[in-house]
Amino acid sequence: MASQPGTEPSILIIFGGTGDLSRRKLLPALGRMAVEGDLSENCHIVGVATNREHRDETFRELGGQAMADAGVVGEAVAELVQNRLHYQSIAGGTAQDFQALADRLDEISRQHGIPPRRTFFLALPTSVLGSTIRGLGAVGLNRVADGGWTRVVIEKPFGYDLPSAIELVETVRESFHEKQIYRIDHYLGKEMVQNLFAFRFGNAIFESVWNRDRIAAVEIMVAEDLGVGSRAGYYDKSGALRDMVQNHLTQLLTLVAMEVPPVIAADSVRYEKTKVLQSIAPIAPSDVVLGQYTPGEIQGESVSGYLQEEGVAEGSQTETFVALKVEIMNWRWQGVPFYLRTGKRLGRRSTRIGVHFKQSPVCMFESQGVCDINSNVMLLKLQPDEGFSMFIDVKKPGSSTGLQRIPLSYNYGDLFDSLPDAYQTLLLDVLEGDQTLFVHSDEVLESWKLFDPLLRFPREIRPYAAGSWGPAEAESLGITERELMRSES
Ligand code: BG6
Repeated sequence: MASQPGTEPSILIIFGGTGDLSRRKLLPALGRMAVEGDLSENCHIVGVATNREHRDETFRELGGQAMADAGVVGEAVAELVQNRLHYQSIAGGTAQDFQALADRLDEISRQHGIPPRRTFFLALPTSVLGSTIRGLGAVGLNRVADGGWTRVVIEKPFGYDLPSAIELVETVRESFHEKQIYRIDHYLGKEMVQNLFAFRFGNAIFESVWNRDRIAAVEIMVAEDLGVGSRAGYYDKSGALRDMVQNHLTQLLTLVAMEVPPVIAADSVRYEKTKVLQSIAPIAPSDVVLGQYTPGEIQGESVSGYLQEEGVAEGSQTETFVALKVEIMNWRWQGVPFYLRTGKRLGRRSTRIGVHFKQSPVCMFESQGVCDINSNVMLLKLQPDEGFSMFIDVKKPGSSTGLQRIPLSYNYGDLFDSLPDAYQTLLLDVLEGDQTLFVHSDEVLESWKLFDPLLRFPREIRPYAAGSWGPAEAESLGITERELMRSES
């Protein structure tokens, strides 16, 4: 082929190829990559699923539809769908099925002159992950052939608790080396999360204040207005601690708190993130508030409570809200509380990191009665309305010497075109072999060491009305929504 833009020619094999993640995220992301010239014109995609009746044509139809539903259309998309989507059934999950897959991949490689470069994307439920990995290993699909590479992509959850995470790490390691493994936490693919690197390490002014001398508290919030939706089957056995805190919020925490790495590259970034996790003190039960939403109103609409959602077990004690305090026991952060907070059916969707600076050592404006508000706040808004605000005090115009809080802000949307989807970024990184935005097994295990004990404490689940900002008890754990709103207004 004369021109081969984007990634190297390779084969991407999607287990769970006809499933929800593949249709909603992966196939549209691949379509967008094709449109933008990021995908090699000799990259082939094999959808693997259990249905024996499906053919290449079935997968092409499904793929084309998935891309069209996501608004991804055009010549490059049509070419990808018609010529480069293939289907292979692995119905019984037997050794013969895996061998048939291996043969099919060899055939596609031969036909299209693709070197032995393969990525196995396991978009599968945790229950079949281990057997699939062993199946790949049994027929040698884990091996790296001369001049090629073999990568495996795994989606969260990486375990259910510490023992199951250890087991999963070991199972994967029996067949693949850490350098081959790409653990996806889709938060790391979000543009504004990556922007944290640019923000912290591209602007020298911040590094000198990014520590316990200048910062009073850090607050990381992922608020969702949506409820559990149609996912109660999964969520009711998981809860917010496993679903959000152990992974997404913890990843955000490590990026805010990590030391400056020598370079922005996988080994150094992941090493620094792991060090943060190793420095966190055991979390005290008194520093954790769990909640569950009850019926309420969100943006003028009545919504049901968690216990009334379809598929939720009667009297379920699953938490849909978590607020907790974390202390990082190292030189940079000793004494600075990090407040993590997440919940479903909260007032509105808002993911942000708030950095609260210390107050001035001396109050110069006491006569104006404004001493209580003059600590600066920096807000990194990750979604929606991606952007940044730094709240500072300025003198009110006129003869009065009163102060007024104003934001210095920018909104991503005002400056740049639309942001790429997290999966597009992450798929491109996998195909280019860059592990920086993927989770190392050490991070998974360190994170579980922290949160596993919380799963075993006696649990007190506090009710909160849908549309509120969580149980009242959580207000003492950090900066309340009211105070933050004051900063934002
Ligand atoms: C997923 C969780 O990992 O992240 C969901 O399983 C949650 O429960 C979702 O809703 C939030 O992701 P985002 O990108 O919408 O903030």
